[in-house]
Amino acid sequence: MRSFLMGLCEVVVRVLTWPLYVMKAVGLYKRLFPLLAYNITFSYNAKMHEEKRNLFRNLWKYANTDGTLRLLEIGCGSGANFKFYPDGCTVVCTDPNPHFKKYLQMSMHGSDHLTYENFLVAQGEDLGHIGDESVDVVVCTLVLCSVTDVQRVLSEARRILRTGGGFYFMEHVVSEPSSWTFFFQHVLQPLWYFLGDGCVITRATWEDLEAAGFSELHLRHIEAPQVPITIRPHIVGHAIK
Ligand SMILES: C[S@@+](CC[C@H](N)C(=O)[O-])C[C@H]1O[C@@H](n2cnc3c(N)ncnc32)[C@H](O)[C@@H]1O
Repeated sequence: MRSFLMGLCEVVVRVLTWPLYVMKAVGLYKRLFPLLAYNITFSYNAKMHEEKRNLFRNLWKYANTDGTLRLLEIGCGSGANFKFYPDGCTVVCTDPNPHFKKYLQMSMHGSDHLTYENFLVAQGEDLGHIGDESVDVVVCTLVLCSVTDVQRVLSEARRILRTGGGFYFMEHVVSEPSSWTFFFQHVLQPLWYFLGDGCVITRATWEDLEAAGFSELHLRHIEAPQVPITIRPHIVGHAIK
């Protein structure tokens, strides 16, 4: 009964949101989304401050013997994580949406403890411009929900990481099937897909991480505080190549 109701509600939401999809199809929303994401980042970061601080606390252990640390962010967006990176770290930013550049630059100006190498407009599924084993750390936060092919992104992350390098993640994921969160995630998915510029809230991303072939995986399931119920279940952690 519940799955019938869930399917029915999902169809209704899908029908009601079709004008939004037209807007997305003509590319209007690609321009608007970075402004929205930039502003939402402030409240998300405030709520997740402790989690992010703990997550990125040990980044320096991936530094090279000469003290350098080269970090690449997949789907960097407006640069929400910059303030959590250690002093002197070199950052390579990548994102498929070029309209993030303006907001990225604003975050860069506010984080001059870092060195910025460049901003590469690229999908995480194809980071062909980045050499094999050329970075010490790869970061992905709130991105694996939006990519087309999670496994390809993880395989690119592993390719560009040096052996022993770290992959850091913080992602919202699907809830337990018996929960109301799961129900609302499925019913609201069509609307969320538009609002989040391709964001899928029903992914069991931890399964992709488990299958990605890292030598170690340190993953925790958490409930993000004070965020909408649809994105409350999160996974957070790091993997080692
Ligand atoms: C919700 S935003 C998160 C941005 C940032 N990582 C953060 O934590 O605030 C999702 C980001 O994923 C990017 N994205 C979407 N599809 C992608 C893909 N195939 N590869 C890499 N990034 C992608 C979007 O352009 C956007 O910047």
